[in-house]
Amino acid sequence: MSASLATVSYIGATILFILSLGGLSHPETSRRGNLYGMIGMTIAVLATIFGPRVSAAGIPWIVGSMVAGGSIGIFAARKVQMTQMPELVALMHSLVGLAACLVGFANYIDPSAAANLTSAEKAIHEVEIYVGILIGAVTFSGSIIAFGKLSGMIGGKPLLLPARHWLNLAGLLVVIYFGGAFLHAESVSAGMTPLIVMTVIALLFGIHMVMAIGGADMPVVVSMLNSYSGWAAAATGFMLNNDLLIVIGALVGSSGAILSYIMCRAMNRNFISVIAGGFGTGGGAPAAPSSGAQPVGEAVPVNAIETAELLREAKNVIIVPGYGMAVAQAQHTVYEITELLREKGVNVRFGIHPVAGRMPGHMNVLLAEARVPYDIVLEMDELNQDFPDTDVAMVIGANDIVNPAAQDDPNSPIAGMPVLEVWKAKTSIVMKRSMASGYAGVDNPLFYKENNRMLFGDAKKMLEEVFVALKS
Ligand code: TAP
Repeated sequence: MSASLATVSYIGATILFILSLGGLSHPETSRRGNLYGMIGMTIAVLATIFGPRVSAAGIPWIVGSMVAGGSIGIFAARKVQMTQMPELVALMHSLVGLAACLVGFANYIDPSAAANLTSAEKAIHEVEIYVGILIGAVTFSGSIIAFGKLSGMIGGKPLLLPARHWLNLAGLLVVIYFGGAFLHAESVSAGMTPLIVMTVIALLFGIHMVMAIGGADMPVVVSMLNSYSGWAAAATGFMLNNDLLIVIGALVGSSGAILSYIMCRAMNRNFISVIAGGFGTGGGAPAAPSSGAQPVGEAVPVNAIETAELLREAKNVIIVPGYGMAVAQAQHTVYEITELLREKGVNVRFGIHPVAGRMPGHMNVLLAEARVPYDIVLEMDELNQDFPDTDVAMVIGANDIVNPAAQDDPNSPIAGMPVLEVWKAKTSIVMKRSMASGYAGVDNPLFYKENNRMLFGDAKKMLEEVFVALKS
């Protein structure tokens, strides 16, 4: 393939990637967006393999690596449960970071990469390598820790080292100092020591940064690492002189940054304070007494038949799904109940919190999979004011996103986070297995409100019982 044809293919792939991102911004166009992305990536890979920069001798190596990597990818994609998707995404981000590190080291060692460069060009080339490995190493180790936290292997409690900000600052100064030593190194072997020291510090910084972030802030971390992986890819593009990789990396990096901003807004958090860490308590366990006022009152349980009766009498119903719906894989039963109620003339809508579940868009994906019509799936801001006119608010496996303590208790760890105001409905029904807290580890006063009912059990099983009761 000639150089000009490769360039035209790269431009075509870039346009397809931009269209892909545009398509992914709405559920209705997301399939098309994915298709554009797949076609764009196929063109990009083919143009790279058959382009002028790969010799015929290199092709079997590339094909061999693609078969190995592709097989692992297919195996992982087929095996992963929907609830493990966030962990898988974190793991994928770590691979982008690792690739940036490996490409950086390979580029530095490769004598042909810097041959024929003027001293200014060589300095720029080395800055690219240094910065690329730095971003790659932070992304790699940070994503591994995020994987551990999302999968529950590492607790959600923030690890707050004494003087952690000073430690980070010291790390930054050492990285800058060794950056100077790296640029002034006379030979590759002399430059290796500062490069390795910086890589170790960057790896430790990535671990420290994510370990210091509390469970409740994990949504921001997931999108932030997404952004970092984009910048790591862009850095790889600079190192390899590959324009397409630079453009795509910048697209992923900036869209990840926008997503982080959206996540921060959804949680009423300041991005800098999230990165500084320390917010949110341990995951899963009931809240410690210090983490806010203890709820008073008694939780009133109901059974599936009583729930069906409440739904049958309702005119307006809002369903709020959360992480538990994903765990129980209850989305298909939710769809069946929705259709049944709609046939009976009930106005059923879904309220989606931006950080519901464990990854951005988690609930939308599940509901789309179950064929719930998009026009009844609304964002939190679009229907939060409608709860006072709602007969039944049905909370399915959600907890933190419907916690009134976020509004009422300034001492709560989730104070200030916007939540779905389900308690303003005539009746709210919370479906979960126990009184346990959610991801942020905060007790939920909603369970004890007078107009709230608890339907205890696995969401899928309970919804199936409700469906049977509704039909009879
Ligand atoms: P959570 O607050 O985590 O609550 C989920 C609830 O589902 C749990 O309290 C659990 O209670 C229940 N549950 C679990 N399995 C169930 C099952 N099989 N059947 C019925 N219920 C089940 O979830 P949420 O309300 O969706 O809020 C999301 C939380 O995750 C927020 O704190 C958010 O910050 C965090 N987070 C979000 C993301 C993104 S990007 N969305 C990423 C990381 C973290 P039982 O154990 O009593 O059943």
